[in-house]
Amino acid sequence: MRILVIGGAGYIGSHVARAFLDRGYAVTVFDNFQTGLRENLFNDAAFVHGDIMRPEQLRAAMAEGFDGCVHLAALKAAGQSMLKPEIYAEANISGTINILNQASAAGISRIIFSSSAAVYGSPQYLPIDEDHPKEPENFYGFTKLEIERILDWYDRLKGIRYAAIRYFNAAGYDVRGRIKGLELNPENLLPIVMETAAGIRPKLTIFGDDYPTRDGSCIRDYVHVSDLAEAHVSAFEYILKHDSSMTVNLGSQTGVTVFEMVERARAITGRSVSAEVSGRRAGDPSELVASSAKARELLGWVPKYSDVDTLISSTWKMYEKFATL
Ligand code: UFG
Repeated sequence: MRILVIGGAGYIGSHVARAFLDRGYAVTVFDNFQTGLRENLFNDAAFVHGDIMRPEQLRAAMAEGFDGCVHLAALKAAGQSMLKPEIYAEANISGTINILNQASAAGISRIIFSSSAAVYGSPQYLPIDEDHPKEPENFYGFTKLEIERILDWYDRLKGIRYAAIRYFNAAGYDVRGRIKGLELNPENLLPIVMETAAGIRPKLTIFGDDYPTRDGSCIRDYVHVSDLAEAHVSAFEYILKHDSSMTVNLGSQTGVTVFEMVERARAITGRSVSAEVSGRRAGDPSELVASSAKARELLGWVPKYSDVDTLISSTWKMYEKFATL
């Protein structure tokens, strides 16, 4: 079976490419290196340097013939999406339309799409299941929801079967150390904690300690990127077997506070992680936790690496090489 992984040189994409390779698939990675990294390419996968905004480059790549395609090529900074919606509209929405039209013309009828918990907005109840109201609070989340709707129409009108996978907080690195590239300019909690532990940045800012949670800091559902990656393969096999589309949450179903994450990071790295509490960051809900019952039921998905210690230790393995302390 042949799979095209679009955005396969990125942080999540490289783990997804590795998961398909590990399960015996022939993989081609398509990436423009805007945020992806050359060092994330694998010797046992083919590579095409291309951009989803260039339909002719997609057409040429897809002409090789694939049984399915994974689409992870997108912009993902929620805050930036509120300042520059036009670039999110183009890259995320127009880019996906290019992929769908070229895939459909090339006879590729199975697509796995990286969606996000950002489609839900602030939780109205917890844990968040797939039927929870979708009221995105940033433009990034809106683009993901809009693409899910387009996918649904392409399913009905063009016979494209899709799996839309709504990630909660992706974190961690391949525990076997096979991913070489560190994410550039990380904006997420765990890499920032690791940069602080390694001395790359002087301190971590904790955004708020006055939330209605057990220690006042925000609760998130962190899921290991290798567990996410594994679910992409299972989702592809699901749509192959059932010839039907699906939408699932992927989270660990466990809430962890910012303070808890920092404390475990101090214990595991043996480093002082200097942290200072500031005011709340705009748009942060106090608690986000997924229900992953549907992924368990439909995909048999059970996270193996999403406990806090494995999330931290697998990330620290990447960062300790750069430690300056
Ligand atoms: N945080 C800090 N300091 C930092 C960075 C983060 O205190 O320097 C806190 C945030 O306030 C939040 C938690 O750590 O409470 C996690 O923040 P992240 O920025 O790592 O992640 P978010 O929960 O904001 O968002 C992430 C992805 C989104 C996705 C969402 C789904 O970045 O794309 O998870 O749950 F939609």
